[in-house]
Amino acid sequence: MSSATAAKAPTMTRAAAQAMGSVSSGGMRSTSSSSAINNNNKNSMPAYIPTIDKDRVSLIQTEFPSAKLEPLDPIGASVYGIDLKQTRPSQDVINAFEAEMANRGFLVFKDQHELTADELVEATKWWGDHKMHSTHGVHPATPPGPNMRHVFRLSNDRNHGILGVGPQWHNDGSFEAAPFSHVAYHIVRVAENGGGTHFVHQGAAFDQLSVEDQEYWSRLSSVNSNSGVVHPVVHEHPISGRKCVWLHMGMTGAVIECTKDGNFRLLNRDEMKKLFLQYTALMSDGVEQGQYGIAYEYEPGDVLFIDNYIMGHRASPQAHLPASEQGLRIMHRTTGKAPFEGFEPKFGLPQYVNIHGPSPFGDGVWIGGGIGFRFDESLHYQN
Ligand SMILES: [Fe+2]
Repeated sequence: MSSATAAKAPTMTRAAAQAMGSVSSGGMRSTSSSSAINNNNKNSMPAYIPTIDKDRVSLIQTEFPSAKLEPLDPIGASVYGIDLKQTRPSQDVINAFEAEMANRGFLVFKDQHELTADELVEATKWWGDHKMHSTHGVHPATPPGPNMRHVFRLSNDRNHGILGVGPQWHNDGSFEAAPFSHVAYHIVRVAENGGGTHFVHQGAAFDQLSVEDQEYWSRLSSVNSNSGVVHPVVHEHPISGRKCVWLHMGMTGAVIECTKDGNFRLLNRDEMKKLFLQYTALMSDGVEQGQYGIAYEYEPGDVLFIDNYIMGHRASPQAHLPASEQGLRIMHRTTGKAPFEGFEPKFGLPQYVNIHGPSPFGDGVWIGGGIGFRFDESLHYQN
């Protein structure tokens, strides 16, 4: 028997949660299996990553005759023959690119040289709601101009950009009701000794879970430790409909379980630790085994766009080694607004709870502020 079922924490009914100000969506799912977490969680099925769709490429080539899309192994694709400085393409072509990003996780537009802040912002607005959604601080070395506030400048030298961001698995903008739909990573200077980003396909990651864990995780919702926003741990992708896992390893203050009988309870410390370690292993395995993740190393001129609802990521350990050791790394990140208002919680949970006040869900982990729950004290966390 796991500690999940042994816990006697008070629970909150679904009706009570709705009374807190629900944005009700999704409704109650049928739940039938045990909430036990299975350590031998892996499903034996191979990771499925859709191939690039030829019809979409043909459509893209009607506006970009020299465009080529080449798959990276096992996720993502490189795009050649398109200059991001040119006018925004038609919505049909944008939809084709977005569908490929939703399926393969990311597209890296090659040979762009260095885009100005204005050019990078305009290219970021090709996607989603065609608006920026900027929530970050601005480093003083960011190139000045009207779009300066939209550029998040990252580096391994504090004189050139913000240090140490995102070492643990996460999705960008998780503290928002509707996180960014697409994120751009434009490498401005590639470190001589490397230092890229690890990306994992969260749809294929969901498929790797055992049937029991898929069912259990689908009844969980995360609470952001800063904003208190509530998101499902398993969601259906807004474009593909594919089920994806989604959890922030450095900014989650609580996880709420909807039990089989429709009550809510908080995971306790042991359950949280188990979940976070399992999630970290699931994501890391994707990269290390090369089935549904990639350790991407940037090349000069790369502008990489992710679909943020299927692409979990973290900075590689090498990315944060000092410039004196690794060479200077400078990256400009920009973030685009999602074309919907809410990445809504399930089971009638409210979009926000007050993580800084007492828990309305009884006993369990409930940590407001900072990085939230630390599942491993030896790790570095920074958002
Ligand atoms: Fe990130």
